[in-house]
Amino acid sequence: MPIREIHPSVAALDMICVESAAPPTAMVVFGASGDLVQKKLLPSIAEIHRRGLLSEHFCLLGCSRTEYSDEQFRQIAADAIRHGPGSTSSQQLAPLLEKFHHISGDYADPGTYERIGSRLAELRSKHAVAGCDLFYLSVPPFLYETIIERLGSSGLSCKDDPDCCRRARLVVEKPFGRDLDSAKVLNHTVSKWFEESQVYRIDHYLGKETVQNIMIFRFANSIFEPIWNRNHIDNVQITIAETLGVEHRASYYDKSGAIRDMFQNHMLQMLALVAMEPPISFDADPIRDEKAKLLRTVRPFDPTDLDRSIVRGRYTAGRINGQNVQAYLSEKGVASDSRTETYVAARLFIDNWRWKDVPFYLRTGKRLARKDTEIVVTFKEPPHSLFSSAGLHHMPPNVLAFQIQPKEGISLRFQAKRPGSKICIGTLDMKFRYQDIFGVEMPEAYERLLLDCMVGDQTLYTRFDGIEVAWQLLMPVLEAWQRSKEAPYEYPAGSESFPEADALPEADGRQWHGLLTA
Ligand code: BG6
Repeated sequence: MPIREIHPSVAALDMICVESAAPPTAMVVFGASGDLVQKKLLPSIAEIHRRGLLSEHFCLLGCSRTEYSDEQFRQIAADAIRHGPGSTSSQQLAPLLEKFHHISGDYADPGTYERIGSRLAELRSKHAVAGCDLFYLSVPPFLYETIIERLGSSGLSCKDDPDCCRRARLVVEKPFGRDLDSAKVLNHTVSKWFEESQVYRIDHYLGKETVQNIMIFRFANSIFEPIWNRNHIDNVQITIAETLGVEHRASYYDKSGAIRDMFQNHMLQMLALVAMEPPISFDADPIRDEKAKLLRTVRPFDPTDLDRSIVRGRYTAGRINGQNVQAYLSEKGVASDSRTETYVAARLFIDNWRWKDVPFYLRTGKRLARKDTEIVVTFKEPPHSLFSSAGLHHMPPNVLAFQIQPKEGISLRFQAKRPGSKICIGTLDMKFRYQDIFGVEMPEAYERLLLDCMVGDQTLYTRFDGIEVAWQLLMPVLEAWQRSKEAPYEYPAGSESFPEADALPEADGRQWHGLLTA
């Protein structure tokens, strides 16, 4: 049931909050001994529980190849939750841990699924769970098809169960495929055993508060939407800059690179939210229709002239936050002849009525000067300067910036008179920071996403067509880079950019916006 809270006077804001508590759920997590489960999933479940939103009738069955007793798994979970970002007390933790169990097995062995089936029946009865089963794949992507096939053939996916409430849900982590063909094959396997309404494909960026806020900002205010188009906007920039390198993930990352790891999913999803048309309602399918439609209108890359629209880079040794860091090629697990990119910058155009000829500049990279995710919308300059007699022939444009992380907030840059001289015009930033207004830490994206899939809300999950259209757009680039014998351009770790990436906006007489957290 939705919980409706109205706080008329918090920090002088009128707020209407709607939150749904999770119904009874039996959750099976494949890959339970992995990093993601310990760093994100378990702490997020504990937060949902702490907020009183987890059903009393909940159980979690961790599944991994490692042999753990329930007690050992609970110990690992307790450590993960204590070290996580939440604030669960020992008193709150104890009853939650009682709901955690573990089963070990080989993911390819049909016997594992028979045992999961009987264990689930036992746990459903023990915890009185009369609700959906939720299967969460937190395993390396090469295992997805095996597990989905086995879930289906063992009857656990319940695709043909006429009683919808008892149907299973499938949650799949990214990456979803590594190109268009593999994504289609995976979608085909999924659809063999699960209906689309049962499937939750994760892009954790969509669970971030500030990413969700893009939609609220655009469609809950009336002043911006009328100017959200080519008549008023000069260009849009989307940046995800990281200071991290590949950490211990080189074996995955070296086969993916920034284009598969960040661009195909997080970057294009943010682009879709910024540029899509208003959906007919705030429901999952209308929103996903508009996002897919938008990505279909992105002008295709010309593989014979890629450098004008997309370039790739790779970090060499450098310094970040006063520390020396090694080159990508020296990272453990990276092939010595690797041509994998750690940075992608692109210049895109959206061929529709709203955006014709407005450039969208997108960039993402690892080992950059600062961690910073931002969307910057630059408006056109005023058409005529009234102040040219004072030597002011051009007015700086208005700039609207969404700071996605860290220091989440929104700012609007405009011109104002400074007190004193007759004509003295200065640029001011009107800023709002989440931390200052709401005074709370940003919830972890997984908290939102897990709660939504328990509730059965697919709005923040990617639909099969959204995944395929994103791969389709990037195929000419992936193929050209695959054929190319040239290594990516190089940038020293700790820099913000490199000349070939700068050349993308410069070709249009523009430049990258400086990183906002600076
Ligand atoms: C993941 C990528 O999807 O997103 C990582 O696989 C990246 O390489 C991470 O570091 C960034 O996420 P966030 O939430 O820290 O911006």
